[in-house]
Amino acid sequence: MSTEALSTAEGLVHAPLIHKGKVRELYDLGEHLLIVVTDRISAFDYVLDPAVPEKGKVLNGLSAFWFDKTKDLVPNHVVHTDVRKLGDLVSEPDKLAGRIMVTKKAKRIDIECVVRGYITGGGWRQYQKNGEVNGIPLPAGLRKNAKLEEPIFTPAGKNDVGHDEDISFEEMERRIGSELAAGLRKRSLLLYDYALAVCEHKSIILADCKFEFGLLGDEIILIDELFTPDSSRFWAEEKYELDIEIDSMDKEPVRTYLLGTDWDRNSPPPRLPDDVADATTARYQEIYRRLTEPTSYGFTAFQPIKY
Ligand SMILES: Nc1ncnc2c1ncn2[C@@H]1O[C@H](COP(=O)(O)OP(=O)(O)OP(=O)(O)O)[C@@H](O)[C@H]1O
Ligand SMILES: [Mg+2]
Repeated sequence: MSTEALSTAEGLVHAPLIHKGKVRELYDLGEHLLIVVTDRISAFDYVLDPAVPEKGKVLNGLSAFWFDKTKDLVPNHVVHTDVRKLGDLVSEPDKLAGRIMVTKKAKRIDIECVVRGYITGGGWRQYQKNGEVNGIPLPAGLRKNAKLEEPIFTPAGKNDVGHDEDISFEEMERRIGSELAAGLRKRSLLLYDYALAVCEHKSIILADCKFEFGLLGDEIILIDELFTPDSSRFWAEEKYELDIEIDSMDKEPVRTYLLGTDWDRNSPPPRLPDDVADATTARYQEIYRRLTEPTSYGFTAFQPIKY
């Protein structure tokens, strides 16, 4: 690939680094936060080497696209995405262009708001045990990847250490109060319905997705990232089938490669060959193109109705 991957923005951003996730870095700009999406890629909970060129731009670009489309439905944290406005706070702005988002600082609500329109992944594993997902009983006899009659809201408690924990809606109410819990559920279902319809026009199925919300005073805003392959499960319509493990639209070349090696998943993973990294870049670019390109109807994504 022509462009070089960015595996960290440390050294390029002259502000305190306050959090380094597997993929993103958060810097403190005082009144605001700076989110940099690097090209790092993770699979099976490991960060892999090398980073995947362009991946960070696609993730940041998709978040920016969806935050803009949904801003009238649910207000969000975006201030701007223009690296030039950062001035002396950054060196080599060209390396960061397209990967940054300056956001409002919110008080994070420690719940991952998950909506599932299809029964798959962790939801499917729960259903197989007892016919329920996060305490919501579902009809008997559903097959893996089936579309649910109605999307369901299946929250998880955010844990800073270890994995997030699936909780019932009642448990969410106990943790954050009934009024706020109902408010987050309503917003999550509205966002899902909207994005599901937009994706449908692009022949993509939005199987499930995760949102994070925060408080600015007493206003609820959407934070973090929105409808990216890291927070949502997208299926190409032409790949959809019941009972199988459907290829993810993004990391499939990486997973196929790793599963074809003798790596035990308990030690550092093998290095990705260049052709696998390049194939992954192409996957990310394809998702971006498919989601954001105007359809034959001539619109990029219809605007939601204002509530
Ligand atoms: N506007 C905001 N205000 C406050 N916190 C925010 C805002 N936007 C995002 N965050 C927080 O920033 C953090 C981003 O971290 P990130 O997702 O990169 O890593 P992580 O979730 O800790 O780990 P992983 O790499 O496994 O995803 C999250 O804790 C998220 O809740
Ligand atoms: Mg995260």
